[in-house]
Amino acid sequence: MAQRPYIVGNWKMNGTRAMLSEARAIDRAAQRNMKVEVALAPPYTLIHAVHREVEQIGVGAQDCHPGEDGPHTGDVSATMLADAGAKFVILGHSERRQDHGESNELIRQKAESALAAGMRVIMCCGESDATRQSGKAEKFVLGQLRASLPVMDDASERLTVAYEPIWAIGTGKTATVADVVEMHTAIRGLLVELFGAEHGPEIRILYGGSVKPDNARDLLGAAEVGGALVGGASLTADSFMGIALAAGELPES
Ligand code: 13P
Repeated sequence: MAQRPYIVGNWKMNGTRAMLSEARAIDRAAQRNMKVEVALAPPYTLIHAVHREVEQIGVGAQDCHPGEDGPHTGDVSATMLADAGAKFVILGHSERRQDHGESNELIRQKAESALAAGMRVIMCCGESDATRQSGKAEKFVLGQLRASLPVMDDASERLTVAYEPIWAIGTGKTATVADVVEMHTAIRGLLVELFGAEHGPEIRILYGGSVKPDNARDLLGAAEVGGALVGGASLTADSFMGIALAAGELPES
């Protein structure tokens, strides 16, 4: 059976309790749109509150520490996130790589820790504008994934990949559908190589970078695009569910 499109909102460093009403509205709309799997990753401070408020959507985190507990001031482990109600964690986002100098090796350790805690993982990858201009985008992205994807038995079942070209994030620029298909096809090849012909094709590959209700249909309808990781447009129920609606109207593949 074809998998449902997976539409994930990444609230980044946005949101106070005043935004719980948006989460509730997103959840209500998701209950009316069961053709699409909808999830939200609010900041740490709202995970438990969102988890308590919603019934349908998945709730996740935007990062975790690779360890289980211990003297790491300001950090939060996957076990603690699962306890707060998170079912998945976004890892390797370019903003964390840039702001916190995260390496592929550290990201892989975080992914293994999250899987060990029973969570799902959305593994991000994506090239800078300079890398794309130099013609090395594909080599760079596949290198990132090769080094950061967890190599554990049954990892593939709880793994999603998100391709987010850095130059498209928060800029209003999106990759062309042809570029997205080319990159996702290359990523699919790597997933089959790493996880085998049975499991490699099952891992959804999301596109992220300035996805909005008006461009969602083209991007989400493209080959090998299993959903979207949405930043700015996930902050209101109206725009986020506009994207989910577009995903739900796609013909079944
Ligand atoms: P925007 O949708 O704001 O471009 O952000 C994309 C993103 O980084 C999601 O993780």
